[in-house]
Amino acid sequence: MANHRFSPVSEGEQPCCDISRKAQICLCVVLSLLVLVIIAVVTAILMWPRSPPNHKEWQGSGTTAHFGDIVLGRCYTYTQIVRPELRDKDCQKIQEVFLKSFLSKDPCDATEQDYQPLIELANQTVPCNKTVFWSKTKELAHQYTRVQQALFTLENTLLGYIADDLSWCGDSGSSEINYQSCPTRRDNCSSNPVSVFWNTVSKRFAEDACGVVHVVLNGSLNEAFDRRSTFGRVEIHNLHPKKVHTLQAWVMHDIGGVRSDSCSSSSIRDLKSIISERNITFTCQNNYRPVRFLQCVKNPEHPSCTSGI
Ligand SMILES: *[C@@H]1O[C@H](CO)[C@@H](O)[C@H](O)[C@H]1NC(C)=O
Ligand SMILES: *[C@@H]1O[C@H](CO)[C@@H](O)[C@H](O)[C@H]1NC(C)=O
Ligand SMILES: *[C@@H]1O[C@H](CO)[C@@H](O)[C@H](O)[C@H]1NC(C)=O
Ligand SMILES: *[C@@H]1O[C@H](CO)[C@@H](O)[C@H](O)[C@H]1NC(C)=O
Ligand SMILES: *[C@@H]1O[C@H](CO)[C@@H](O)[C@H](O)[C@H]1NC(C)=O
Repeated sequence: MANHRFSPVSEGEQPCCDISRKAQICLCVVLSLLVLVIIAVVTAILMWPRSPPNHKEWQGSGTTAHFGDIVLGRCYTYTQIVRPELRDKDCQKIQEVFLKSFLSKDPCDATEQDYQPLIELANQTVPCNKTVFWSKTKELAHQYTRVQQALFTLENTLLGYIADDLSWCGDSGSSEINYQSCPTRRDNCSSNPVSVFWNTVSKRFAEDACGVVHVVLNGSLNEAFDRRSTFGRVEIHNLHPKKVHTLQAWVMHDIGGVRSDSCSSSSIRDLKSIISERNITFTCQNNYRPVRFLQCVKNPEHPSCTSGI
């Protein structure tokens, strides 16, 4: 190439090679610019701050991951395996209507009406004498209904089973599930989708109860009966005196725990007077034996379990 310069070049050829060299340089510059532009664009795309979520930020944790799949899976598990008498329920539809009840809506303004279509779709009859309420005794109450399968807590009904321990919310400005955060009472937002759901289905569960109904209370707390609990706030006020004959309270003390409240305590007298005023008979038993047995399964050597409970 070096001796190319010394090769005889006619006057006419000179401009040609000049142009060609210019063209080469031009091409080179254009290509470099192009590469720079591409690098710049790619860098910009990679470095651009993730578009912030359109959702408002709340203090509570966001919707449970895979919410829709969990709802659908639990619905099938319940209707096909747990209570096959409900096998005709349309779980796809239940999932769809559940999502519709809170998506695209203000999560501080949920209402009972939002859940009416879902409640109608998932309707279920709990037989008389089989309703079990609980307050601060969730695990023990569920251990009991797991053994006594004819009995139902709210979480043993289809809707309670589907929603147990889940959280969910949407946003009025978007049709998407908010997985980042959901409002709680701390956000001054008591009408959030989860609280309103549980209030609504608890109310319905109590309204539907009939015959003799039961409640498992926690006798190791200062107050076994708490007016602010779902049981004290919602359920007892929605029992129908014409249908519910008796409320039976079982006050359970933790094994080896303090025995602070019992049937003769003031909180239980409080409960008794509310129930009696509603013309429902009230009965109370400390450490109801069938439930006590379950506690003792975990503590077989404890004195209160060995000396004839
Ligand atoms: C649920 O509602 C439908 C329609 O209202 C009714 O036909 C059905 O008997 C109800 N099922 C139960 C289990 O209550
Ligand atoms: C409910 O329990 C009461 C009292 O034990 C009993 O008289 C009644 O027959 C029971 N009802 C049903 C449907 O089992
Ligand atoms: C009663 O409440 C205490 C404190 O919340 C809890 O540790 C205990 O498990 C509860 N007892 C029952 C029987 O649920
Ligand atoms: C909640 O509302 C109360 C009274 O309405 C107010 O004093 C408080 O500052 C509010 N808290 C928040 C977090 O907005
Ligand atoms: C309870 O029963 C009494 C007498 O039968 C009746 O006068 C009263 O209105 C009833 N109360 C309620 C809340 O149903």
